[in-house]
Amino acid sequence: MRMAGYDVLVVGAGLAGLRAAIEARKFKVNVAVLSKVYPTRSHSGAAQGGINAALGDDDHWEKHAYDTIKGADFLADQDAAEIMCQDAPGDIIELEHMGCPFSRTPDGRIAQRPFGGAGFPRCCFAADKTGHVILHTVYEQALKSGVQVFSEWSVLSLVIDDGQSSGVVAINWATGEIRAFNAKTVIFCTGGYGRVFQKTSNALVNTGDGMAIAYRAGIPLEDMEFVQFHPTTLFGSNVLVTEGARGEGGYLVNTEGERFMTRYAPSKMELGPRDIVARSIETEIKEGRGFPGGFVHLDLRHLGADLIKKRLPQIRELIMDFTGIDCIDGPIPVQPGAHYSMGGIPTDNDGAGTVPGVYAAGECACVSTHGSNRLGGNSLLDTIVFGRRSGKHAAEASHGMEMPSIKDSAVAAVKSELDGIRNRKNGERVSAISRELKTVMMDKVGMFRNENDLREAAAKVAELKDRFGKVAIDDKGSVFNTDLQGALELGYIIDLAETIVAGAIERTESRGSHFRTDYDTRDDERWLRHTLAFRTESAPRLEYKPVKITKYQPEERKY
Ligand code: FUM
Repeated sequence: MRMAGYDVLVVGAGLAGLRAAIEARKFKVNVAVLSKVYPTRSHSGAAQGGINAALGDDDHWEKHAYDTIKGADFLADQDAAEIMCQDAPGDIIELEHMGCPFSRTPDGRIAQRPFGGAGFPRCCFAADKTGHVILHTVYEQALKSGVQVFSEWSVLSLVIDDGQSSGVVAINWATGEIRAFNAKTVIFCTGGYGRVFQKTSNALVNTGDGMAIAYRAGIPLEDMEFVQFHPTTLFGSNVLVTEGARGEGGYLVNTEGERFMTRYAPSKMELGPRDIVARSIETEIKEGRGFPGGFVHLDLRHLGADLIKKRLPQIRELIMDFTGIDCIDGPIPVQPGAHYSMGGIPTDNDGAGTVPGVYAAGECACVSTHGSNRLGGNSLLDTIVFGRRSGKHAAEASHGMEMPSIKDSAVAAVKSELDGIRNRKNGERVSAISRELKTVMMDKVGMFRNENDLREAAAKVAELKDRFGKVAIDDKGSVFNTDLQGALELGYIIDLAETIVAGAIERTESRGSHFRTDYDTRDDERWLRHTLAFRTESAPRLEYKPVKITKYQPEERKY
């Protein structure tokens, strides 16, 4: 069925996108979802450990909010963090009522496990497949509610006319068809950009497409310098090894057999916040207490076969498949990998962006609830809470709007850009530029940064951007042209890398995931503020905006 246009067009079919779509349908508007991959292949399905909510008798949403804001190293907008934590219990119960099969306590309640940086065991889980089961649950609900799904379609541009969004231009990978989707409101839910970095837990699809497309359309990106490295990704493949493994009692051990977290976070140990645990592992490796190749051990053997099989079956299987090690009998080789982008498209607490009609939710958005470091278990929560809120708000807003009509010239501009890549002869290959980009970002813009490295990275990214202008592909066809897709994705990650480096150079302090060895303390006087990166013909232009403080005064962060 072809519509003249959509009241709400959701881009991305992960948890945020599907949750937004379900909510929007409640307002009797027509809703479509465009997704680069089949919805249940979205990267939300790779989330393992769980989703936070203060459900416990002794827990409270305010404790959750405090942990979140402290974990964020006080860069979170506190009103947004409060909303997320206050809404969490209701949203979890709603998921349960949709049919989400959470693990259970013996008395039948939703089971919760301890997670990093949290004062209570508030991470609800379904073994170690939490994202997978929630994703399947919301996909069923989206289909049931009448959402129209366009699978394997990618958005190529966001069209803004007279300061208002009029929809998107997108490509159908199965046929190569390029067409306009008129839409009163567009909600970007396109996830993160882990693929900017060489070592990442992120899927191949995580190239930050939505963020880059919004940025190219003139929307600034917020706090891009804050990139989370997950402490435990599997050495070799960097597949996620859930924090839930440490939540269940796993130890991190160096070559000397020492539980080294005693040195870095003595009260929380392996359940310190991710920025601290990741840097601790990296320090052990850099100081020679890591194993050859650069990893430490995550030891689960003392947990016993029963618990591992019941609570951590997916990682056991993944680790066996990728390394041949059964974590019941042997330690797991782990190292940090890029995992999550705290920054993204700036929105208010209802997902509304800076341009009327444009919304964002989930990892591609920056509300900002996670500030400079997200707590484990708050990502799935963010998708559900802010997905729901943005779906509602966009649907309500669409009621009073005329259906826009995208001009043919907007489609023609996109086609000519693609033809430029497809028809170029003798250019450089995507893979060479991509490899160099990921390497420089990993080596110079990773967990430990300094001015020299960052400036070298900036120069290299600028060089790669120039070379990207001459990139050529071999596949000239239209059916599932993954060569073309790879070229477009490389363009996105180059643009995003520029914003990450630019923000990191200017931010002369250490806060959360952004650690500068040449400015190794937090500087609230100068830097308790958000970065906004605007696209220009040359390097990004940076502006700043204040952090919203409600009642949690910034304090020294100790664990
Ligand atoms: O470790 C994990 O299971 C990941 C969770 C998260 O990123 O929230």
